[in-house]
Amino acid sequence: MLERIEAAPKDAILGLGEAFKADPRSEKINLSVGVYQDEHGKTPLLECVKEAERRLAANPTTKSYLPISGLPEYCKATAELAFGAGNEPLVSKRVAWAQTPGGTGALRVSADFIAANLPNSTVWMSEPTWPNHPQIFNAAGIATKTYPYFDAPNNSLNLAGMLAAIEKMAAGDVILLHGCCHNPTGIDPTAAEWKQIADAVFARGVMPLLDFAYQGFGDGLEEDAVGLKAFSRPGAELMVCSSYSKNFGLYRERVGALFVVTSTAAAAASVQTQIDKVIRSNYSNPPAHGGEVVATILRDPELRKQWEGEVTTMRNRINDMRHALVEALAAQGVPGDYSFMTRQRGMFSFSGLTKEQVEALRSEYAIYIVGSGRINVAGLTPANIERVAQCIGEVVGQ
Ligand code: LMR
Repeated sequence: MLERIEAAPKDAILGLGEAFKADPRSEKINLSVGVYQDEHGKTPLLECVKEAERRLAANPTTKSYLPISGLPEYCKATAELAFGAGNEPLVSKRVAWAQTPGGTGALRVSADFIAANLPNSTVWMSEPTWPNHPQIFNAAGIATKTYPYFDAPNNSLNLAGMLAAIEKMAAGDVILLHGCCHNPTGIDPTAAEWKQIADAVFARGVMPLLDFAYQGFGDGLEEDAVGLKAFSRPGAELMVCSSYSKNFGLYRERVGALFVVTSTAAAAASVQTQIDKVIRSNYSNPPAHGGEVVATILRDPELRKQWEGEVTTMRNRINDMRHALVEALAAQGVPGDYSFMTRQRGMFSFSGLTKEQVEALRSEYAIYIVGSGRINVAGLTPANIERVAQCIGEVVGQ
């Protein structure tokens, strides 16, 4: 019976990585999947991670199962990283949590939790959003809809459109927001705009769900939590899906976390049992290694300081590349004002290139970017940036 099954389309992002690997052209450049690269085009293993792994290897304990919701010290340390130590929901014990296999795992657990416990909720996502968002929620049987987010002509946030859409959402629906470094646009609300959005969401009785995958890659570890903090109000409910793929460079270890903030400590205790239930029937309990590395770093003052320095280095390099790309495009005489790229935050720049131009970049110049025109700025290096700007100039001029 399996011969009737048709091939699924390639993944919009990871599928490009496969095509890139198979491309024999030596001049190829990969600016598609959101993976950080250093100035030599390598994805580094952070020094703090190496040291944490050394310490863990020197003191092996056990390979027995973790609890369903993961390492308690990992959950506590990562919750404090996201919310800030001493934040009211943590002090009031209003947070249910789980260590998850990556941010995607956290999203899928949240989706299964919503499907089981809030079955009539629609999950609203920004237009555009990360292509995996609708797939994850649809796979869990949840209805999804979109709200306006991007003001294309001005390369800015369409706040008015977003607020108007929130007013039309049904009470009990869920709004999925990007905690910082919006993927793919790179456009985030300001602190004042976050407050307006949070006011509108709570006034409507909608549940906020923040995908928080790039903490530290925008303006700083604390600065990037400004949106989360706008939602973290006394008695308010909130869900957060964190990823440590990017800011710890632990991509393949699959390290993430889900935090569900409830209105009371008693509700958090019940919600915890429901989270555990959906995890048990999915992957039973999370893999340990990446979580142990993150917990070791966050709980050791020296390693933590080193990590913060390494995150700063990655963030500064990305922001330097934004400026360098705008300058390189100008130097190549590419028509148009690309200065908006310097105002975008995180790994990505929404370039405004059309599907046809993206396709021409790939087929004619072996430069891979995502079909939406999203460029992974973290893949630009001093060695490839001039060629990228030149080839963008070629396809824009065609
Ligand atoms: C991306 O958007 O490129 C990253 O989040 C990697 C992924 O899993 O898609």
